[in-house]
This record gives sequence, C-alpha cells and structure tokens, in this order.
Amino acid sequence: VLQGAENPASPETSQTDLLDAADRLLPGGVSGRSQLPRPVRFMPARAEGAWIYDVGGRRYVDYHAGAGALILGHGHPEVINALSQQVHKGVVFFGVTADVTLRLAEELVKAVPCAEKLVFTSTGSEATAYAMRLARAFVRREKILKFEGAYHGNHDSALVSQAPRTIANYPYARAESAGAPEALLRSILVAPYNDLDAVERILRESHREIAAIIVEPVQRAIFAAPGFLAGLRRLCDQYGCLLIFDEVVTGFRLGYGGAQEYFNVVPHLACYGKIIGGGLALGAVTGPAEILSLANGAEQMRPDYVLVNGTVHGAPIAAAAGLATLKVLRSDAGFYDRLNNRSRVLRRELQRIVDAYAIDATIVGDSSMWNVTFVKPVPTNHAGMLKEDKKRVAALDLHLVKHGIYVLPGNRRLTTSAHGDHEIEVTLRAMDGACRAVASGVLS
Ligand SMILES: Cc1ncc(COP(=O)(O)O)c(C=O)c1O
Repeated sequence: VLQGAENPASPETSQTDLLDAADRLLPGGVSGRSQLPRPVRFMPARAEGAWIYDVGGRRYVDYHAGAGALILGHGHPEVINALSQQVHKGVVFFGVTADVTLRLAEELVKAVPCAEKLVFTSTGSEATAYAMRLARAFVRREKILKFEGAYHGNHDSALVSQAPRTIANYPYARAESAGAPEALLRSILVAPYNDLDAVERILRESHREIAAIIVEPVQRAIFAAPGFLAGLRRLCDQYGCLLIFDEVVTGFRLGYGGAQEYFNVVPHLACYGKIIGGGLALGAVTGPAEILSLANGAEQMRPDYVLVNGTVHGAPIAAAAGLATLKVLRSDAGFYDRLNNRSRVLRRELQRIVDAYAIDATIVGDSSMWNVTFVKPVPTNHAGMLKEDKKRVAALDLHLVKHGIYVLPGNRRLTTSAHGDHEIEVTLRAMDGACRAVASGVLS
C-alpha cells in the first residue's frame, strides 16, 4: 500500500501516495472528526518546537500543538529526557502505582484548588465520563446539565448538543451521533452558555433529578462572562448538585492553577487531560476525598462504589511526560506572563491586519487562545456562533494553511512557549495575504 513512501519518486508524490493510502484505510483519511480538507491536507513527517514538517517538504507553524497538549511545543528537551529515562523503567504497570505517577498525583493535588484526591484516566473524555459517574453516584440523581456547544469528549453522555446546527428547545438536548442510545439523551439537559437565568429556570424545575452541571470554563474560544461560573457554583450549592469544571483545555493553560485560579471559582470536581500527560495518554478527575473515595477498589461491595478502571490509567510513561511538563511550567516564574503576552501581541497584530483591510471580523480569545470570528456582536454562546458565515471562515483558514500556518477551519487556536517572534512574523505575513485575498473578493 505504501510503496510510494518506501521508494518515493519525489516528496510531493510520496505525500500524495500516503494521503491516498490513508483515504483507503481510515474513514475520511484522518483519525477523528477535525480534519483538514484533502486539497490542503498534509502528512506530518516530524515536528520540532512550533513547527510541523510534512513528508512533501513543507513546514507549518502549528497552532494546534497536539490539540493543546503540548504547551511547550513539540519535543521539549525536558520532556524528551523524562521519556527516555522512563522508557527503561517501565511504560505501564497494572494494579500498582508507579513512583512517577504518585509524584504527578502529588503535584496535581497541590496545584488544583478543588483537589484532595484524584483518579487517573487515559483521556480527557474518560475524565468527563468518570466525573459524571461519580456525580451521579454521590448525589444519587441521574441527570447532567451541560451547555449547548460545549465539547466534553467522545463518549455517549458527552455527545449531545455539541455543535448543533439549530438551537435546542431547552432543556431538551439534541443527539449528534448516530448510535448514541435514546435513553441516554434523556439523561442530559442542555442550557445556553453564559445564561445564568436559563440555568436557574431549569434547576428550579428539575433539580431533584440533576446530579451535576458540567461546564467548559472557556467554551471553545468563548470565555465565561464575569459572574457566570461563580453563579453556577452558587446555584449548585443552592440546589444540591455538583459543579464539574472540564479543565481538559484550560488546566495548566490559563495559568498553573487553570480556570479555577483564572476565574477564582472552585468547582466540586474538575477534569483534566492534555497538558498533564505532556502529549501522551493521560487524564484525571480531581475533587474532595468524600467524592473521590467512592472509587476505592477495595470497597467494591459497597452499593455506592464507582468503577474507575483502565489498562493505561496513570501509565508511568505518560506521567513522566506530564510531570516533566509541569516542572517546566512551575519552575519558570515568568512562563505564563511571557506566553500570554506574546499571544496578546499576536491577537492585537492579527486584528490590526483585519482592520487594515476593512474586514468585518474580530480576533477573539485571551490567555494563549485565539480565533477569528466573522460575526458581530462577538458570540457569547453557541446561538451567537450559529450566525457566523462558516464559508468565509473556512476560506480564510484554507489560505493560511496553503501559506504555512496550520489551523483547522473554525477550530480555536493555541500558542505554545515555542511560538517566538519569528513564528509570529510568519503568521502575520500569511494573515496579511489571506486578508488581502478576502478583501479583493478572491476568497469568498
Ligand atoms: C474541553 C474538552 N473536554 C474533553 C476533551 C476530550 O479529551 P480527549 O480528546 O483527551 O478525550 C476535549 C478534547 O479536545 C476538550 O477540548
């Protein structure tokens, strides 16, 4: 199948052959929902810092960095060093806790405001699934309230009202994947993001059935409005349900204390993934001992025992990469200031270019997150996002990819500490070309 790769006529042909092979072997040619359209799709050969080098001989400034897992960029020397050492000590054990995994647990409990104990998982999706299970068992109610447009991973309970094309008849969620059980759909309620009144109405009516509210403190690129998260915590306390922060993206990104520090709100439970595994498979659910202790495997005869179990949960190889990443973040006092300042400059300069071409778009985001939105006013929830002209977004993004900037159409972008002045300059140059093309009507 991959003859082209073994004996390439040219890098470009070789890349085309590999992309063809991927199209034959994987549905859509890519493992997952987010993907570049085929005309601009590339096959990464290797990556370093902020750059991905493709098989065809081109390179791209990477604004996804392992979907946000690689806050230090690709191949940070401290992470590589930790991985090289751990690979000789054992990559995975079962039924026992490795020293490196324990050290990561200690670090997480120290860093995360709501954490007294934690369970490890393999992914962020698993973390949100377990958090929902723990909440249902602890509160002894079945329903979970989520927000329209929020992504909490790939499991059935998270697969509703993720990116619906029309808004829901709140609080009834919309199914978004064939194959998800109808019964499960009825156990998830949905509310518009940043709308505390709507949440309160739903709680007033249905709180006896609601175990938890799960929220992305930054929903995609939309930051929670002032008071929204604190209001959710207050409502949860009032109505006897748990507040779950999905910190899979925001954890160790908005600052070392994640969204809990940034927004100064402490939830009951918080879910992690991405950065805490340094790009390898690792997630966690953190919270009070009283709730997390329900997952004590030695007490599985108890009626309120909650099963948490997985082959690579807390695997030492991933824990080593995560711990090395956290060590860099913690020991460099100016890390977040530098990362956030550089991202601020990037957002400001991108906006300057957009304005110079009189394009009606806004560069949104804060911290090390950014995106381009073509809708005004800037959306504060999914209903606002639906008004966006997705074709214009895609046209601009495809131009950027063609000119060496790796952005997935419509997806939020993240900068890393490896994005320096040069990478920003390259990005701004590509944006200038893209905006010139949009303004002259070449892209529509
Ligand atoms: C907010 C949020 N929660 C959960 C997940 C799922 O994490 P994973 O892809 O590790 O399963 C993601 C992934 O992008 C995410 O952005």
